[in-house]
Amino acid sequence: LALKVLQARAEAVSARSRELVGAKVVVAAAIVRDGLLLAQRRGHPERLAGGWELPGGRVEPGEDDRAAVARECVEELGAEVVAGEQIGPDIPLRADHLLRVYRAELVAGEPRALDHPEVRWIGSDELDNLNWLAADRVVLPALHDLLDPP
Ligand code: C5P
Repeated sequence: LALKVLQARAEAVSARSRELVGAKVVVAAAIVRDGLLLAQRRGHPERLAGGWELPGGRVEPGEDDRAAVARECVEELGAEVVAGEQIGPDIPLRADHLLRVYRAELVAGEPRALDHPEVRWIGSDELDNLNWLAADRVVLPALHDLLDPP
């Protein structure tokens, strides 16, 4: 019986991995400047409106993750960034999507809310108070480390 339980678990895990391997990737940028993190309040779609997120969006077919981070920041913020290390784990989103957060350095332009209602620079003391989207909440510990290195 124990063996059957283990086999069932192994199958469930590999099914999950297959799902993630085939998953579409959404990227988001953790932009830090002067000890503050850039957060964005979503205006759309309806089910996410009012939630805070790290700016980002879907990686296009054939596009590199870091190129997608840079493109999304131009589209949503009118600013140029260079994407660096991934922060935190791959985070499953609904259906067959996953979220990857990258550290991003602002290299040109002042971020403005072009696509959503508001962007705000927040300190580590404000991190836990925002109404983050569920997926973005997963990287809060990593964001704390980024703003307040241990
Ligand atoms: O921004 P965009 O709508 O292109 O992102 C696609 C989806 O990825 C969103 O609908 C949302 O569910 C998810 N997302 C997220 N956290 C982010 C960016 C996107 O959960 N920081």
